[in-house]
Amino acid sequence: MPQPKIVVLNDPATVGAEVANLIVEACQQAVMASGRFTLVLAGGSTPFYAYEIMSTPPDRDRILWEKTHVFFGDERCVPPSDEESNYKMADGSLLSKVPIPPGQVHRMKGEDDPDAAAKEYGQMLKQQFGEGGPDVVLLGMGEDGHTASLFPGSPALDETEHRCVATVKPDSGQNRITLTAPFLNKARLVIVMVTGEAKAKRLADVLEGETDPKRQPIQMIDPESDLIYVCDVAAAGMDAEEPE
Ligand code: 6PG
Repeated sequence: MPQPKIVVLNDPATVGAEVANLIVEACQQAVMASGRFTLVLAGGSTPFYAYEIMSTPPDRDRILWEKTHVFFGDERCVPPSDEESNYKMADGSLLSKVPIPPGQVHRMKGEDDPDAAAKEYGQMLKQQFGEGGPDVVLLGMGEDGHTASLFPGSPALDETEHRCVATVKPDSGQNRITLTAPFLNKARLVIVMVTGEAKAKRLADVLEGETDPKRQPIQMIDPESDLIYVCDVAAAGMDAEEPE
């Protein structure tokens, strides 16, 4: 796995601000180049700061929402109103606060049969991207090295044909829908956000340890183009700078 670019910042809020800035820049470049911007959102809690910043001036007004299409990296198989829903988190912290046309928010239907929903989403992605991929993919990382809903040892790790599959979260048995590594790797830019001391050992293993994607699926994320890890000092195993 070639070394990705690694950015280490003081705290989760600063990580969020850096991610928002990267997205603003990518959006403006994409719209100039292709007339639209395609962004895959991450689930979990880490992206919350970035989404809040993206939904607040000035960043909100620097993103060309009318030209932006939003997709999801994964979803829990629950209704969109469920507290577990990644869509609900993104809608509450971002999508409901910005002028993105509703038809440009491509939600994974967590309320439907997982296989049917994954198939429908994959067909939509093929319509949207053909054999290509999105401009930007946002990802988080679990303490076990999973990303999206690509979990250690999962059959989803072996998927090479489909862009989106149904899967199961091992410990809870929760049904999930997830984009697959081959599709995620088609992105022009992948941003992995990692914060918190609890992830420090795993992050070091992922970036500096042996390459073992079955055990640490985030190591499958190896796009042909740009890969940036944006971390805080806690996740990087460093001490925060003492304030002046
Ligand atoms: C999900 C996410 C998942 C997440 C990691 C990190 O649906 O939970 O897609 O891959 O990014 O589990 O989660 P936190 O950001 O909550 O630590």
